[in-house]
Amino acid sequence: MAELDKKEELASEILTEESLDNIHHVNNPVLDVPAIEKKYLGTPTSYVKDSNRFIFTDGKASVEIKVFSDEIIRVRLAPQGSFLDDFSYAIKKDLDIHPTSFSLEETADAYLLKTSLVVCRLQKADFRVAFEDVQGKVFNEDHKPMHWEENVDYGGYYVYCTKTTPDDEVFFGLGDKSSNLNLRGRRFSNWNSDTYGFAFNQDPLYKTIPFYIGVTAGDAYGIFFDNTFKTYFDFAAEENDKTSYWSEGGEMQYYYIHGPQMMDVVKRYHELTGTHFMPPLWAIGYHQCRWSYYPESNVREIAKQFRKRQIPCDALYLDIDYMDGYRCFTWNKRYFPDPKKMIADLAADGFKTVVMIDPGIKVDEDYWVFQEGKENKYFCRRGDDYFMEGYVWPGRCQFPDYTNPKVREWWGTLYRGLVEDGVAGVWNDMNEPAVFGRGTFPGDVRHHYEGYRGSHRKAHNIYGMQMVRSTYDGLKKLQRNKRPFTITRAAYAGTQRYSSVWTGDNIATWEHLRIGILQLQRLSVSGLSFCGTDIGGFTGEPDGELYTRWMQFGVFSPFMRVHSAGDTRDREPWSFGPEWEAICKSFIELRYKLLPYIYSAFWRQHKYREPILRPIAMLEQKKMQNLQREEEFAFGHHILVSPVLNPGQQSKIVYLPEGDWYYYFDNTIYAGGKEHQIDTPLEKMPIFVRAGSVIPEYPVMQYTGEKNIDCLRLNVYYGEGRQDSDVYIDHGETFAYEQSVYSEKHFIVEGGKQSLIVTQNQEGLYNERFDTYKIYLIGVPFDVNKIEVDGVIVHITMDEDNSPYFSVEKEFRKLTIG
Ligand code: GLC
Repeated sequence: MAELDKKEELASEILTEESLDNIHHVNNPVLDVPAIEKKYLGTPTSYVKDSNRFIFTDGKASVEIKVFSDEIIRVRLAPQGSFLDDFSYAIKKDLDIHPTSFSLEETADAYLLKTSLVVCRLQKADFRVAFEDVQGKVFNEDHKPMHWEENVDYGGYYVYCTKTTPDDEVFFGLGDKSSNLNLRGRRFSNWNSDTYGFAFNQDPLYKTIPFYIGVTAGDAYGIFFDNTFKTYFDFAAEENDKTSYWSEGGEMQYYYIHGPQMMDVVKRYHELTGTHFMPPLWAIGYHQCRWSYYPESNVREIAKQFRKRQIPCDALYLDIDYMDGYRCFTWNKRYFPDPKKMIADLAADGFKTVVMIDPGIKVDEDYWVFQEGKENKYFCRRGDDYFMEGYVWPGRCQFPDYTNPKVREWWGTLYRGLVEDGVAGVWNDMNEPAVFGRGTFPGDVRHHYEGYRGSHRKAHNIYGMQMVRSTYDGLKKLQRNKRPFTITRAAYAGTQRYSSVWTGDNIATWEHLRIGILQLQRLSVSGLSFCGTDIGGFTGEPDGELYTRWMQFGVFSPFMRVHSAGDTRDREPWSFGPEWEAICKSFIELRYKLLPYIYSAFWRQHKYREPILRPIAMLEQKKMQNLQREEEFAFGHHILVSPVLNPGQQSKIVYLPEGDWYYYFDNTIYAGGKEHQIDTPLEKMPIFVRAGSVIPEYPVMQYTGEKNIDCLRLNVYYGEGRQDSDVYIDHGETFAYEQSVYSEKHFIVEGGKQSLIVTQNQEGLYNERFDTYKIYLIGVPFDVNKIEVDGVIVHITMDEDNSPYFSVEKEFRKLTIG
């Protein structure tokens, strides 16, 4: 009897989700079931080749090695010999990469799969996999063979991979983790979670980006573990010489991405998962948000204040209170009696309106969205066919299954009314998905998963991504091919193809300013370059100094938006008094001056797959000790910043990489390769421009497009040797750039002892409105006697601020200054 009770107790325990984490390790003597043990691959006995795939088997389990390109090789494991369908939400559809050549050699103890750059070595004795370069340097190798455990509760397997970790190896990546930049010594899990007021090192957070970069002896490689189940990464935390990653289901399927530069790894990761499309120009201006601006008079007043105070701003946000009882796609007509008129008036004043849309649909038989979803069976259901119901802002809700293409299509069309009202952008939130009380959906909720089917355990981490994908697709159609602007809180690898992201509900503390700086760099090297924090902190109250320092960092955040919780005091740039307002204004103006530079960095991200933010350690990979300076980063290729992170800080030590650097505010030259102490009065922050760069600048505008640019200012920073710069311009709105309607200018600056030569060539079909450049020379170390443009002499003029410049036709090819 006692034994029976015990059995029942154990059986019911097995069914609770909480126990699942542990249960697979339990060898239960009472139930008399076989121990659930880890199983390892054995000796490969044969293999077959199928084009660029090689399938090995040990008689039962199979391993597939597929060569995607000379630098990217995928490894898959099928414990029982048959692979799952080869489908991934992360990998972009039109993947167009191929190896130039590859071959398989067999030696006495290994199979060697070789591309022109990488050797994948498969040990015959035990199936251990290693990746080397063609010189034989090992970049990454299995510590023990891939292994698995049966998942008795759900079917499928827990799959594991364990790599050897050299003493000097450091790790980057994993998306939005709130930890130090180097992930070594820590264990992380990926399970998209609504984490209001998260802490330093809290894990998991909102996003799942199972991609990391390892750097050892100055050389980098990447691992992308493309598995949507709950995944884990242990970076030499449990044992100092091992790094493991594993999952609670799905396949062991990972891509090895060769470097040796971190930049190459990130670019190749983008080759697999895509880049962010060019955002509309207004999306990279300054955005003002809070929970919530209402009623209409309040929104109008905010807009009025921006223009009155001449603080640039491109977008105002409406958080959930604009809706009728939090019903998505409706308006609260008491607060917003005529939204179309309000949005049109705002637009006439240069403001775009962005609105919040959540996934929870109120269970209300009189609400058209609920009716349509119900009628068409678009809402998620539990394992036993009951609807998945949970409480969110509107009360009792049901949730669309965005993993069903039909549901995505429908959801996309729901934006019609908002688009007709003039809404310019959409902010998708609570899409982890978040459910009050229980956190998220139970594991048994069923998903369509593009026809491949799966439980919520498999679909959880891609739910938010599929929601914003449907938003993006819907807006793209409804806005007649204008570039959509979307922002999402939850994400999986590849979300950059559809959206920008923010880091969720942070706190108004100095510590969180620092966490945000780490998160944005990490997101950027994890493929999500269009990212931002809630400037000022979502919850809690910043003082004027913290708010202002955060605003300064915000200028160098790809997405620049102030946002705060419903119960906080005012958070507009003027809310902290005139002293802080003046500094915030000057920094927001700086953002607008730098817009053409920032836009060009977005282009380099989109076309050349370069992350927008780059940790300082990435700039000089052989000097990994720079990882200590984790708050310093490059913003695009030519600007380096080190935000101020402490109250009352008068100065800070900044390390500058090799080469000369100009302090932005007064053009003083600092030598790189060493540290400098830089004054940090409140109205300044350490901003440096690389010698040899060409930085385009716009005049300050109150919103993008306010002024026509009749000539483009180019600041040419003298530097010895050669530097390349790009300036990208288009009309800022449609996808015409996909048909080459853009202008991409390449400048090469060559500085000698007595000369400076700037050459230009251009790509693309776009003809800007301006005809001339106004060129400002900065830091030329010799007396300028003659300036020649394509053989014709030009003369220096003084501008209204008494700064010397000269004008040249924008088509110039060669500028010689001597
Ligand atoms: C969530 C979001 C936050 C938003 C709030 C109300 O907490 O993260 O940005 O303001 O919901 O919609």
